[in-house]
Amino acid sequence: MFMKRAFSVLNKNSISSVVKNSENAVRGPVAIRAIQMKKEMATGKKFKFEKLVPMHSGNPQALGQPPITFGREVLSIMMHHQFGQDVSYDRYSVDAVDRARHYLENMDPQAIGAYAGKPDGYDPIKKEVIDFIRERDGVDVDPSKLYLSTGASEAIEIFLRLLINDPNDAVMIPTPNYPLYSACCVAYGGQEVRYGLDENNNWALNLEDLQKSYQDAKDRGLNPKGIAVLNPGNPTGQVLTKQNLKDVIEFAYENNLLVIADEVYQANVYNGNEFHSMRGVMEELGDPIKSKLEMVSMHSVSKGFTGECGLRGGYFEFTNLDSFAEEMIYKLKAIKFCAPTPGMIAVGTMVNPPKEGVNSPEVVSLYNKEKDHVFGGLQRKAGELYEKLNNMEGITTNETQGALYSFARLHLPEKFIAEADSLGIHPDLHFCLNLLEETGMITVPGSGFGQEEGTAHIRMTNLIYNDKVMDDSMANMHKMVSELHGKYS
Ligand SMILES: Cc1ncc(COP(=O)(O)O)c(C=O)c1O
Repeated sequence: MFMKRAFSVLNKNSISSVVKNSENAVRGPVAIRAIQMKKEMATGKKFKFEKLVPMHSGNPQALGQPPITFGREVLSIMMHHQFGQDVSYDRYSVDAVDRARHYLENMDPQAIGAYAGKPDGYDPIKKEVIDFIRERDGVDVDPSKLYLSTGASEAIEIFLRLLINDPNDAVMIPTPNYPLYSACCVAYGGQEVRYGLDENNNWALNLEDLQKSYQDAKDRGLNPKGIAVLNPGNPTGQVLTKQNLKDVIEFAYENNLLVIADEVYQANVYNGNEFHSMRGVMEELGDPIKSKLEMVSMHSVSKGFTGECGLRGGYFEFTNLDSFAEEMIYKLKAIKFCAPTPGMIAVGTMVNPPKEGVNSPEVVSLYNKEKDHVFGGLQRKAGELYEKLNNMEGITTNETQGALYSFARLHLPEKFIAEADSLGIHPDLHFCLNLLEETGMITVPGSGFGQEEGTAHIRMTNLIYNDKVMDDSMANMHKMVSELHGKYS
């Protein structure tokens, strides 16, 4: 007879404290309350709104953004590949059939349901990424330094894991910041060193602040080893200038930091702002930086007008790493076999879309139409968020120059702040929970991303594809904000 087990192996006391201490604001208390509401709505419970409006997550297709036809056609054909058998592909464009055939004939093994033959991914796709980087940055990429990955997240995890080897090892990350970085710093047993972005200067990176954070960290006995630069920024929606990027690259070089260039939003740049890749800027700075600075730069199919978050496709490319570090990357990738195969295909169709002079005019025209439609909508909504939020009492926000978010400052009445204090929660979480109850809008409080002490913010996405839903939501929010200020002032 077995004895009855006295307790769970995994419980509050036994689970690793680094896991317990890591946080994810995007799926934090507001999103959790929204899930609960959804369940209650399904049982007939009435709220002050008809539908929840998910403005918390940068998950384009969950919010109605349609996929790009060419990429989906190539994927569909490959998922159903029967070349050589009597299967008709008449419903697909000839260009998509040709691309699918090209991938299938050149990838190893020639089966999308198999692990890829190498941990760095399919060669025909890697070649397309290399061409894409050459066209963007004017550099020739060594294929052995390029990996297809499980979104950009995998690259972030790999590099933070490699960097953190001691409880005092630290990575410099911006405030506010995309939560995966803080979560990994904590989960891998290291430290995060925050550098501030300047809200009064459209969230630009401030060199003096960077130097000060670095020095403070050193004075505290920490060992900063890397710096993450998110451009365009999440949650802050800024696009960094070339000068800003030069400054941070030189700073990283002088202080022996590895640069993590997170550029997943490079296709989300609006209203005449210009994206400069860190890889390109590093090349422009010339020697010794270009031949010595350790950098990893990454891209993803999740954002932009591609919006294929669920396919988990991305790539990362590194420069100037020690050969032992390269071996470790290979090992870490090999342990998990390969990136998801559909994600790899999606990377290929993202970096090498239908092109004039190469593909048929109808396919190019459909691709351009779809891209312009999605991109135009995102750009327009970014502008609307800026205007509508700035028109609300006690809310100011910078222009969303890029990415998918507005990170607006909340100037809340004293009485409301005191009420939040009495509830033991941050005032911006109190605000977001109120907004949810009143309007159904799911948002993320700024406190979840880290922010300057004493300030309060809200992150909202410009991804709501349906104009009416967006307009109605912003009108409802306007009303809620006016009432809140009336009640608490
Ligand atoms: C700045 C940033 N980096 C990385 C990621 C992760 O992207 P992926 O879906 O490619 O893993 C996100 C996702 O929102 C992000 O905002």
